[in-house]
Amino acid sequence: MNRQIVLRSRPEGNPSPENFELLNVAVPPVADGAVLRRTIYLSLDPYMRGRMSDAESYAASVAIRQVMVGGTVSQVIESKNPAFAAGDFVVGFDGWQEFGLSSGRDLRKLDPSIAPISTAIGTLGMPGLTAYVGLLDIGQPKPDETVVVSAASGAVGSVVGQIAKIKGCRAVGIAGSAEKCQYVVDDLGFDACVNYKAERFREDLAAACPSGIDVYFENVGGAVFGAVMGLLNVNARIPLCGLISDYNTMTLPPSPNLRPLLVKRALLKGFIVTDHNDRAPAFLKDCSQWLREGRLKYREDIVDGLERAPSALLKLFEGRNFGKLIVRVSPDPTGR
Ligand SMILES: NC(=O)c1ccc[n+]([C@@H]2O[C@H](COP(=O)([O-])OP(=O)(O)OC[C@H]3O[C@@H](n4cnc5c(N)ncnc54)[C@H](OP(=O)(O)O)[C@@H]3O)[C@@H](O)[C@H]2O)c1
Repeated sequence: MNRQIVLRSRPEGNPSPENFELLNVAVPPVADGAVLRRTIYLSLDPYMRGRMSDAESYAASVAIRQVMVGGTVSQVIESKNPAFAAGDFVVGFDGWQEFGLSSGRDLRKLDPSIAPISTAIGTLGMPGLTAYVGLLDIGQPKPDETVVVSAASGAVGSVVGQIAKIKGCRAVGIAGSAEKCQYVVDDLGFDACVNYKAERFREDLAAACPSGIDVYFENVGGAVFGAVMGLLNVNARIPLCGLISDYNTMTLPPSPNLRPLLVKRALLKGFIVTDHNDRAPAFLKDCSQWLREGRLKYREDIVDGLERAPSALLKLFEGRNFGKLIVRVSPDPTGR
């Protein structure tokens, strides 16, 4: 049997476990050309909140009673497609379920000797590519410039700051606790990290950016963006990656004061990672190498059990995840 989690209802405001339902369905037989795999890791990501809603967006909503979507790392257990063999590890998009079945066109094989397989949904996966494209292609950082990134301890933010360091920039993080800020500086090697929940956040941010801000990688929006805007340098670049502080709000906050963007001739560009798959080969080459060299570090927040995915998803919107949020759906045969 295949345990799967489907969307039961659409959330109003914060999502809750009641919006989901766990089903047991039969695993279909493997037809000619098909690949059956067992999910090992399921990625939980902020975009899933958007898929639960029927508001217009850049991607289709998950229908009621449809399996929740999501990136997965799996092991092939039966293959009638010559390109895959039982035992292969693959990254795909099987969603919140124990088994995936398809022609295999949606799968990429993983070599566990290159990097831990879970990184294929983290630093070497969609969040890593997001950081790479947003920072390098839109942010265009130059040596000695100051790069600031919010949600700095998370899946995307942690990669942004480390690539900024590799490119010779000053990297400043913004995160939601003293513990996260300490990790960002001590473990990830950022030059500074500021807690946006502290009373003196604006002063602390100004002190951490004595030469102003040249690139602001935006992950959160809201009051954090307001504080950053006052420190922008002329010709600053702002890759607009995410606005997580807004995802659960029912009434949008008033528009921020955009005057600093005008005065500083800043470039602000929204982007969606799936439009940039052409950059995946360069990203994988660079980031795999930086990972091997120990210049790119990562932290995972692993929750065990598919049935815990609904409650775990909420951690993202409350800052309770510390690192890339992953559900371990079945044991990792590579021994991690
Ligand atoms: N454009 C794209 O294609 C694309 C692709 C991937 C991700 N994204 C976006 O990138 C951002 C980061 O995603 P991720 O996967 O790396 O998640 P993450 O940073 O690992 O986890 C989300 C973090 O957001 C912070 N947060 C939550 N609510 C907040 C609030 N109200 N105000 C400020 N910070 C808040 C929390 O960190 P603190 O404890 O530090 O507050 C939380 O840990 C999200 O906005 C996501 O939607 C965009």
